Amino acid sequence: MTGEHSETVLITGASSGIGLELAKCFADDGANLILVARTTQALEKLADELQQEFSIKATVITADLTQSNSAAKIFADVKGRGLTADILVNNAGFGLHGAFAELPLKRQLEIVTVNISALVELTGLFLPGMLARKRGGILNVGSVAGFVPGPNMAVYYASKAFVQSFSEALHHELRGKNIKLTNLCPGPTDTNFSQTARMFRTRRTSVNKMSAEAVAEIGHEDFCAGKFLSVPGSANKLAAIAPRFLPRALVRRIIGHYNKLAPTGSGSA
Ligand SMILES: NC(=O)c1ccc[n+]([C@@H]2O[C@H](COP(=O)([O-])OP(=O)(O)OC[C@H]3O[C@@H](n4cnc5c(N)ncnc54)[C@H](OP(=O)(O)O)[C@@H]3O)[C@@H](O)[C@H]2O)c1
Repeated sequence: MTGEHSETVLITGASSGIGLELAKCFADDGANLILVARTTQALEKLADELQQEFSIKATVITADLTQSNSAAKIFADVKGRGLTADILVNNAGFGLHGAFAELPLKRQLEIVTVNISALVELTGLFLPGMLARKRGGILNVGSVAGFVPGPNMAVYYASKAFVQSFSEALHHELRGKNIKLTNLCPGPTDTNFSQTARMFRTRRTSVNKMSAEAVAEIGHEDFCAGKFLSVPGSANKLAAIAPRFLPRALVRRIIGHYNKLAPTGSGSA
């Protein structure tokens, strides 16, 4: 299929992991892509590969979403190139492992900026166009972490709780407007996430992880089917539902244990 007359999908965090795999899924549909992240070289390599394999058009926009004006710059850049984002994938995000008081505050505020502020701002900038065209979609990448409090990763879990609540409210507001909204909530996934979050000695690093490819394929399929909540994998589905039936104090203890530093030499990478 040629990408000439198809939809255009803007994906943040497309340089690696789940975002990169989502780009492949949408390219396979014949969609044109706007690939956003900080690492230009990785984006250009992906753009070249996908253009060749799927005969689509892929545009690269280098942006650092910790910068407060980045969403506005991306929006202006898209407009300036004469492009339209029919679908917005808010995937870029990261976490940081450790006790809140012991982690650099500046870096934790950057989690809020990337995972929350940029997601809200990009949504606010691109949604009016979708509403005017009476079609489009938003795929937000949340996490099963959004369903529980996360001792030793407090800001990250709270940021994903925001994504969950915001997405759910927006999904309700968009009823009957022909605009899809999906909240993709992966559990542990084999990407650069753990390394960026410096989760070198947590129990989390030793659990079975899904591949980014499998997560993206499920998220993409659920988005196309118009599902609001997409939780890939049965273990993750259980992790998303079980906390509703457990006392909150117990949930905090379980997650705190899961995110605790494992003793040195315990084998978890
Ligand atoms: N892996 C997991 O276990 C897991 C579980 C649940 C949810 N998630 C969520 O899945 C999403 C994707 O993460 P991933 O697992 O695929 O990890 P990843 O491989 O580290 O990918 C993160 C992506 O976000 C981009 N990004 C990070 N900081 C950025 C910034 N300041 N400005 C622009 N782009 C930035 C990165 O690109 P550059 O470095 O090139 O900028 C990269 O493309 C995140 O929202 C994460 O919270 C992951």
